[in-house]
Amino acid sequence: MFKENIYYKVSTILIATFLSLNVFAQNWDVPADKKAKNSYLKFDDATSKEGEVIYTKNCVSCHGNPGKGNSLKTLNPIPPDMLSTQTQALTDGELFYILVAGRMIMPSFKNILSENERWKVISYIRGFNKKYVQVLSKTDPNKSELVRISTSFDNKTNKIKVEVKANEPKGVVFLKDAEIMLFAKRNFGRLQIDNTLRTNNEGVATFNFPKDLPGDKAGNVEIFVKVNDDIYGEIESQSNLKIGIPTDKPGLNEKRAIWNVMAKAPIWLLITYTFCMLLVISCFIYIFYNLYRIQKSGIN
Ligand code: HEC
Repeated sequence: MFKENIYYKVSTILIATFLSLNVFAQNWDVPADKKAKNSYLKFDDATSKEGEVIYTKNCVSCHGNPGKGNSLKTLNPIPPDMLSTQTQALTDGELFYILVAGRMIMPSFKNILSENERWKVISYIRGFNKKYVQVLSKTDPNKSELVRISTSFDNKTNKIKVEVKANEPKGVVFLKDAEIMLFAKRNFGRLQIDNTLRTNNEGVATFNFPKDLPGDKAGNVEIFVKVNDDIYGEIESQSNLKIGIPTDKPGLNEKRAIWNVMAKAPIWLLITYTFCMLLVISCFIYIFYNLYRIQKSGIN
């Protein structure tokens, strides 16, 4: 009786958790600045035609054709029809963000579709909505080539100064109030340094750099700067600065680690694995032993 009660409670909790996860999964939490992002491409028949090709290749298998309600119903959550009121109520910036971020079954197209291609798919999706009116972005993608980013390090204060300017034909323009993110390259991806900052009137943002960040043997750290400006768009730069602590660290495959081969797997993993396998095997032995006993008592 007590056991049954426990199973009942545990399964109720599990089912409730699962259902609530699905309920919460309905809303996309898009940051305000991303939500307000608009396309610099003017949506017209040509962009929508190109968008259709991209959609057919990357999206139709799950989402079906817009307005046809033929999305893949076996998935959970069901991929929404792109012409549904819910999807069309999203801003262009939100649609763009969803394509970049992805979520569970919805893949991230960050490294699959370029920014141009993402806007073209959105242009295709909007083409079905007669009420849609496009708000164009002020960003001029050709202008991003004019931007120059310079990074320098101040030993005394341990700060990295990032200066962003554009070499316009009429003279140098300092990018004011542009969003700047600073990253250091690590083994697995990038580590953001300090907060996301905005440039001042001189186009400068100053980041606090940690004193104890390991670099390579010579103390070099690969630094990435990502600039996001309303007019000049997204620009990224990369530089090598000698600002880390020199570390003679062994290669990733030299030490015991979970990504290494079996012989170099961590001890705890080997023990857990062996224990689990023994557990499974003993269960089998127990079952076979009991089957044998049942059979024997039947014979008797
Ligand atoms: C593997 C299946 C799959 C593919 C491929 C896929 N999606 Fe999705 N998509 C989903 C699922 C599932 C959701 C719902 C995700 C959620 O709510 O957590 C979703 C959600 C979305 C949403 C949010 C809609 C809303 O109303 O909330 C948009 C927009 C979207 N997808 C666009 C696209 C586009 C455009 C492509 C192709 C470039 C694409 N998807 C490719 C499965 C897919």
